[in-house]
Amino acid sequence: MIDKRKNDHIFLASSPESQIGESWLDEVILIHKALPELDLDDVDTKAVFLGREISMPFIIGAMTGGTELAEKINARLAKAAEELRVPMYVGSQRIGIIKPEARQSFEVVKANAPSIPKIANLGAPQISRLPDEQLLRWAEEAVAMIDAAALAVHLNPAQEVFQPEGEPYFRNVLAKLRFLKKELKVPLIVKEVGNGISMEVAKLLNGIADIIDVAGAGGTSFITIEGLRAKEARPELYEISEEFKTWGIPTAAAICEVKSAFKGPVIASGGIRSGLDGARALSLGADYFSASQPLLKAALEDRAAQALSRIRQELSIAMFLVGAADINELKKAPKVLGPRLESWLRQRGIIC
Ligand SMILES: Cc1cc2nc3c(=O)[nH]c(=O)nc-3n(C[C@H](O)[C@H](O)[C@H](O)COP(=O)(O)O)c2cc1C
Repeated sequence: MIDKRKNDHIFLASSPESQIGESWLDEVILIHKALPELDLDDVDTKAVFLGREISMPFIIGAMTGGTELAEKINARLAKAAEELRVPMYVGSQRIGIIKPEARQSFEVVKANAPSIPKIANLGAPQISRLPDEQLLRWAEEAVAMIDAAALAVHLNPAQEVFQPEGEPYFRNVLAKLRFLKKELKVPLIVKEVGNGISMEVAKLLNGIADIIDVAGAGGTSFITIEGLRAKEARPELYEISEEFKTWGIPTAAAICEVKSAFKGPVIASGGIRSGLDGARALSLGADYFSASQPLLKAALEDRAAQALSRIRQELSIAMFLVGAADINELKKAPKVLGPRLESWLRQRGIIC
């Protein structure tokens, strides 16, 4: 059952049907600098993530594990991550913890990407119901499985609502996150899965999360993916998912929301489809950017390393054209915000 779900997610997420709404990153207009006073070759995209140097502030998003196909995808992504020196998340590791034969599909990441920072992954609905002792064991096992530099916990209430076999159990999550922060030896990342994190939630996560990944709306929609999975057996759930399919905080707005309330580093994700989108996200104050679906598609076609090179090239060009020699300068680049984003920020009292 869980294996079938993992493969359904891979197939549905890689089709255009799953890409819903807008990230609003096109509402961030970076100002062209006709006098960059740099050569393109002078542009340095390097960054540091969890104490390790990486080639650009980009992270391969959390996706999969648990099936033969997932193993192939993870191995390809890990090889590309190691080659291009970028960090990588894995998908939820519950399946690897409860099914020992599924472990290999995660362990390939450790084998193929020994030197880059890797991020383990568990879901909020699981952590909310595990007794503390068992939770710590699961978290430690997830970290050890891939030799992770951090553990990510995903908050996915909208996905769980529309998943036919979903577990919308979100009571107690904050207390469990606090417990993990206290007991776990690696940093804690809290992320969404494509509906975004607000400033109210970001405020609650101060002192608990080390890093927040906003995972806003405008890219892969798990409301749509789960709705489509429900279509035959639960037609009413599919119909409701159609009503909710644009639900969520557009990524550009989510970056500003989290940045205004959270004291730690912020990862921008959700509908980021190029290095230019990444540059826009960094100019809003994000420290890193991440994408999932484009890397999934690239891995399925065995061109993950090319996809990463392309993102780095696009980022370099955007930096050159705003006259930014490094990532810090890019973050300070002048920009103009479009009307939807500006109105959102005004109504929310956020300066971004
Ligand atoms: C096939 C697939 C599986 C995913 N599984 C997970 C998961 O297990 N854990 C998680 O935290 N996020 C998961 N995600 C969500 C992504 O990490 C990301 O937040 C979301 O896809 C939005 O980014 P995108 O628009 O670049 O795809 C998955 C995404 C895809 C495409």
